[in-house]
Parts: sequence; C-alpha cells; structure tokens
Amino acid sequence: MNARKIHAVTGAFGYSGKYIAKRLLEKEHEVITLTNTIPNIDIFNGKVKKYPLDFNDFDGLCKSLENIDVLYNTYWVRFNYKTFSHQQAVDNSIKLFNACVKAGVRKIVHTSITNPSENSHLSYFKGKAILERELKNLSIPYTILRPAVLFGKEDILINNIAWMLRKFPLFGVFGDGEYKLQPISVDDLALLAIDNGATDESKTIDAIGPETFSYNQLVEMLMSELKIKRKIIHVSPKFGCFAGNILGKFLNDVVITKDEIDGLMSNLLYTESSPAGTTKLSEWVKSHSNTLGLKYANELKRRR
Ligand SMILES: NC(=O)c1ccc[n+]([C@@H]2O[C@H](COP(=O)([O-])OP(=O)(O)OC[C@H]3O[C@@H](n4cnc5c(N)ncnc54)[C@H](OP(=O)(O)O)[C@@H]3O)[C@@H](O)[C@H]2O)c1
Repeated sequence: MNARKIHAVTGAFGYSGKYIAKRLLEKEHEVITLTNTIPNIDIFNGKVKKYPLDFNDFDGLCKSLENIDVLYNTYWVRFNYKTFSHQQAVDNSIKLFNACVKAGVRKIVHTSITNPSENSHLSYFKGKAILERELKNLSIPYTILRPAVLFGKEDILINNIAWMLRKFPLFGVFGDGEYKLQPISVDDLALLAIDNGATDESKTIDAIGPETFSYNQLVEMLMSELKIKRKIIHVSPKFGCFAGNILGKFLNDVVITKDEIDGLMSNLLYTESSPAGTTKLSEWVKSHSNTLGLKYANELKRRR
C-alpha cells in the first residue's frame, strides 16, 4: 500500500485548481496547494495548507512535494506580458516536474491544451507541446488533460463574451465565425483529473465537453439564453485585436491577444475526440443566465 496520501494542487485559490481541491477534499484526501495567491477569504477554512510556488527555490519546491502522492498541475500563464511569458512558464514547469521526480511524487496530472504542437508559431500551443514531451520523458506516470475552453462561475472567456453582449449594441465576430470550440465544465475537468490521479496509467485525454459550437453558434446561444438581441458584425482578426486593445486600455486588462484569436480561428480549440465531460454549456448558461456576464472578469487583476 502507498504510504503517500497527500495530494498537491497548484493554484487552489485560482480557477480549475479550486475545483480540483474541492473535489479532493470531498473524497477526504489531505490536500496542499502550491500558489503565490494570498486569498482574501480562505474558501477551504484552513483545510488546504499553502506553500509558495517559488520556481527560484528548487529545494523548497522539493520539500513542499515530500510525501505527495499526486501533483495536479494547472500552472501556466495565459499570454505573454511584461512580467510573464509562455517561455518562462515552460522553464518553470520543467523545474516543477523535476522537483516531483526528486521528491518521489507517484503521479502527475497535468493540464495542457487541445492541439499542442512543437511546430506551432503560437507560443501557447508550442510551449504546451514542449511540456507534454518533457512530462512523457520523466520516470513517473502522468495523465495529460487537454481542455479546449473551460466554463464555470469564475470563467473569463465565456463570461466576458456575455459581458460584452450585455454592454454593447454591436458584437464583433472575428472572420466568418465558423471555426469551432468544445467547452468543458471546470468541475467535469476536476473530476477527470481526480479519476486519473488514482491510476498508475499514463495517458493523454482531449478534455472536451459534450457540445461543439461554432463561434457564431456560441454567440447566438448566449444571446438566446441571456434574452439579448444584438447586431453581429463580422470583423477582421486585425480589427478585432485592435478593438480588444482599446477596450483593454479602459478595463486595465488584456481582453484578447492576436495569438488567442489566431488559435481560435485556426480551429485549435476543436478536436475529433469523443467528449470527456458531460455538462452541457448551453444548460449551464441557462441555469446561470441571471449572473453570467454581469461583471467583467479581469485577468490582470487576478494576477495582482
Ligand atoms: N481557462 C481556460 O479556459 C483553459 C482552456 C484551456 C486550457 N487551460 C489550461 O488549464 C490550466 C489551468 O487554467 P486555469 O484557467 O484554471 O488557470 P488559473 O487558475 O488562472 O492559474 C493556474 C495556476 O497558474 C498560475 N498562474 C496563472 N497565471 C499566472 C501568471 N501570469 N503568473 C504566475 N502564475 C500564474 C496560478 O498561480 P497562483 O496560484 O499564484 O494564482 C495558478 O497556480 C492551464 O494550464 C491552462 O493552460 C485553461
């Protein structure tokens, strides 16, 4: 029998990490988190012990991971910015993987992205592919979960589309809007992570939900569920990015990047795989239509 019982989650006060930690606690596991967030409110009432996610302190990372059975790794950065980059996130994640090996962690459940590729010109998809290769070369079992887009209460992307639909009379769709995406509920992702943490198998799963939307269909579904009718205009990705930058100046945030638009329009958030989650975004939106998009979700504010 394995004497290690503690589960470690990166970012338990963040988005997906919170759901993974909650589900682990429900299963009566002892849970710790590696994070740099100092939460205003401790949603876990002290049940999740906090350790720094300090990539400059390798020995400290190893120490935090002593006696850990499974590491659930959600660590990544959404875009390249003044103070963080995908390249740094790759380097940092490799340190974290190596710390797991040194500390004797039994398994790593790692969150990636649909369609990662080392040949991609997009640093997000390239960086994720490099990390998948690094992880596969370690001596410990792994599960790689590849979500396309997550949805849930703390979501940014879908919430902010809803916010824009509520706020403005026009909504700009990049290009023809026929490229697809397959959102998965953040809680379904958490359940998948925990199920896979319990096995010694190594595998890679496209963590996609049961519904596939074209971007046009996603916007139509949101308008219908939020009972909003807006004029849809089709704009070039360049103009979309420009408009996003202007809006970002007012909101003090990065609303969307050129690379994110490129990835979306290149169908990188779409796969041919069978669904791994069961919750339908359309039903979730219906049951959250009173709150979805009422407030803008600010990525940079979360980082401050
Ligand atoms: N959200 C989506 O729609 C989506 C879609 C596809 C794939 N994914 C993948 O799913 C994983 C989890 O995503 P999430 O949305 O749940 O992430 P998150 O909660 O915002 O962040 C996850 C972890 O990354 C750290 N982090 C995030 N941005 C950072 C920054 N700029 N500088 C330093 N640390 C940063 C957080 O640190 P702290 O704990 O210190 O806050 C946390 O430990 C990621 O690997 C992502 O690539 C997400």
